[in-house]
Amino acid sequence: MISNPYPLGLRLHGRRVVVVGGGAVATRRVPALLDAGADVLLVAPELTPALRARADAGRLHWVPRRFVPEDLDGAWLVHVAIDDPLAAASVSAVAAERRIFCVRADDRTAATAWTPAVTRHGPVTVAVLGGGDPRRAMTVRDAIRDLLAVRLAPERIAPTPGRPEAATAGGRQSGRVALVGAGPGDPELITVKGWRLLTEADVVVADRLVPGLLLDELRPDVELVDASKIPYGPSRAQEEINQILVDRALAGAFVVRLKGGDPYVFGRGGEELLACAAAGVPVTVVPGVTSSIAAPAAAGIPVTHRGVAHEFTVVSGHLAPDSPASLVRWDALAGLHGTLVILMGLKNLAAITATLIAHGRSPQTPAAVVQEATTGTQRVLRSTLGEVAADLLAVDIRPPAVVVVGDVVSALDG
Ligand SMILES: C[S@@+](CC[C@H](N)C(=O)[O-])C[C@H]1O[C@@H](n2cnc3c(N)ncnc32)[C@H](O)[C@@H]1O
Repeated sequence: MISNPYPLGLRLHGRRVVVVGGGAVATRRVPALLDAGADVLLVAPELTPALRARADAGRLHWVPRRFVPEDLDGAWLVHVAIDDPLAAASVSAVAAERRIFCVRADDRTAATAWTPAVTRHGPVTVAVLGGGDPRRAMTVRDAIRDLLAVRLAPERIAPTPGRPEAATAGGRQSGRVALVGAGPGDPELITVKGWRLLTEADVVVADRLVPGLLLDELRPDVELVDASKIPYGPSRAQEEINQILVDRALAGAFVVRLKGGDPYVFGRGGEELLACAAAGVPVTVVPGVTSSIAAPAAAGIPVTHRGVAHEFTVVSGHLAPDSPASLVRWDALAGLHGTLVILMGLKNLAAITATLIAHGRSPQTPAAVVQEATTGTQRVLRSTLGEVAADLLAVDIRPPAVVVVGDVVSALDG
């Protein structure tokens, strides 16, 4: 007989949680543990690119090998996120011996703790347990979320002129792709429409920069494809991503391609739309809140301000100004008075600022760098155009970050 579970809200800040396994299940679970401030120890011979990125950024400790009992030293909770039932049972046996609660992805009946279906609304977290039936929990959770959220009436998705017709709403949709902007980092900054399509997806193809908490709320039967593109690191070829979108959609699935910020701002959304269109796959595009505006805003910097800036220019700094492949007229940008927002520019920042100054922009122009904007780990560096590159090295700011140049940087200073 299964007795009723006893619900608790675990306060994990600074407490050791061991996650065994580095695959899709761990990729979904780890963001919520990190969000709760847990000290995560990940034990797995291999990691998905998304987990690897978090390990590289120092957000969690990764032990690249199989589990040994000593891994549970000091642990308050264990998540077993591996398929092998024998290996999972041996981890949970060690946990039981040490009186540590153990969540098991492979066998809920053998687990001593269950993860609920969750919906978060600001400071309120609603967690639903379905008596051991995760689908029931999801259904109830979805109903509660619908009650709590602002909902849009079902709508027809207008076909894009010159593109294949999108499927219509009303009932489950299939065999199509939605390119959805996930926003800059705060999971609440996805649009209502983007969120609705995410809850309807059969397959989610997600970039590394999408908020991990959005993935934590997916139904368990949703296929999650990790299409991480780690800055300056390994990347899965764009053609492979295009092929995944097309193949899954042609097999009848509703595929949500979830991209950080806005899909069309340095997001390669256009290439993905063209690949789908060439294969006859209908595509819906859901714009997102782009980091090029949201990151400055989150740091208290308006990209325009009356009497200060009448324009803002968003530019990619991923190529050095003297690169033959660069499409940017840095000399022309140096002659503008307005706001310059540089994405992907940390690596080349010294060359970029020197070029702007050489072509006439004052080195005294206020400048700021905003790292991981709208997340709990946001950091802001304020400086000047002449000094920002050197200041950056001193404070160890890392990607993803946006650089803002212009008088707007100090426009709201008291
Ligand atoms: C490949 S571009 C994608 C931009 C995205 N499509 C958008 O609209 O925000 C990645 C760059 O966006 C910027 N970025 C994305 N999210 C960010 C965040 N939360 N904070 C600061 N910069 C961010 C960084 O410059 C990063 O290198």
